[in-house]
Amino acid sequence: MTKILAPSVLSADFGHLERDLEMINRSEADWLHVDVMDGVFVPNISFGFPLMEPMRQYCTKPLDVHLMIVHPEKYVERFCDAGAWSVGFHLEAVEDPLPILDLIKAKGVRTCLTINPDIDVQRLVPYLDKVDMVLLMSVFAGFGGQKFIPETMDKIRFIRTEIDRRGLNTLIEIDGGVNSQNAHDLYAAGADALVAGSAVFGSSDPEATIREMKA
Ligand code: DX5
Ligand code: ZN
Repeated sequence: MTKILAPSVLSADFGHLERDLEMINRSEADWLHVDVMDGVFVPNISFGFPLMEPMRQYCTKPLDVHLMIVHPEKYVERFCDAGAWSVGFHLEAVEDPLPILDLIKAKGVRTCLTINPDIDVQRLVPYLDKVDMVLLMSVFAGFGGQKFIPETMDKIRFIRTEIDRRGLNTLIEIDGGVNSQNAHDLYAAGADALVAGSAVFGSSDPEATIREMKA
């Protein structure tokens, strides 16, 4: 079973970004999750291209970019050029995801399709063989520190079954309210990758928390 852990830089201390990224580098974290919010698709604004540069410079782990923006087709190539290892955008933010996935693939970058908790998980099924990863939001996109939505568990099991039935290697990533209490159950239900913001950066010993979550 793959157990990927991706701390979300959204909860890092941006005044001490280099220090926090060095902690991530030392830790057992697999990726750095990069939450980009535009204030339109979600009611919050995080950061954009200028922070990709120091993240790429100081972080040795792959940058897993999660775009919570309208018109991702305008920006995905720039995020690829800025050093993203994977680029994901929301299915419900676009009319047709396929040409946008092609833009990312043409850059040689891994693709991810994401849905908020109120979007029918069935809508991901036609794309399972066209993406490297699907991301199920386990809170409503926009803010760190929210409570995990328990209904996510059944969605993970459903998507796991659909992926396995087709013999695909598509990864399942879960984002929102993940902590050391629920991480084990999420992996057991079929998640490959977990995002954790406040649980990691709010911990008094983030490296130990990362280890615990993967254990
Ligand atoms: C929410 C973001 C998440 C967020 C997770 O919109 O997509 O990645 O950083 O934060 P926690 O782990 O605190 O729920
Ligand atoms: Zn995210």
